[in-house]
Amino acid sequence: MRHWRPDPLPGVTRLASALLLGTAALLATVPASAAQPASAGTPALNYRLHCMGCHLDDGSGMPQRGIPSMKGVLGHFLRLPQGRALIVQVPGVMNTPLNDRQVAQLMNWMLGQWAGDSLPPGTPPYSEAEVRQLRSHRPSDVARTRGDVVQQLRQMGYVIE
Ligand code: HEC
Repeated sequence: MRHWRPDPLPGVTRLASALLLGTAALLATVPASAAQPASAGTPALNYRLHCMGCHLDDGSGMPQRGIPSMKGVLGHFLRLPQGRALIVQVPGVMNTPLNDRQVAQLMNWMLGQWAGDSLPPGTPPYSEAEVRQLRSHRPSDVARTRGDVVQQLRQMGYVIE
């Protein structure tokens, strides 16, 4: 009968390296999914980097300092073509270093995060081409344009502060 000859070192080494590889594989995948809301290049991270300073973590803004809340109201703007254009033509979006594709993704992400019931059903998402077209035109007076849009929406029964 052949006896199994203990050969601990190579065996242990193989086992250890298999475990290490397994751990490395886990480490490589877990953070990517756990950190998904803010990993590189995602709208969530772009929001944090470029917008959160004014609009805050949850989109509630600082209304007392002129930065409107987007929570539960942002989608109302998409009820009017001028509103749909306006929210891409505000200075924070016009002046961001993000490209048009990133802005389109960011707008769609913000609507998903905060528009809630304000978003009319069936509203098409922003496309890169639409954002490019909108950003090529800067309204001469954003505050006045916003005022007009907010007033029209109010007449339709949708109140934005
Ligand atoms: C320096 C502060 C500041 C930064 C940074 C900023 N915003 Fe704004 N944002 C405002 C203000 C103020 C308004 C209100 C309209 C105006 O006066 O320009 C606004 C309005 C908006 C609106 C329309 C909501 C409404 O009710 O008018 C959207 C959408 C928006 N911002 C998105 C963004 C995004 C996306 C970014 C980042 C890429 C960003 N903002 C960065 C200050 C900021």
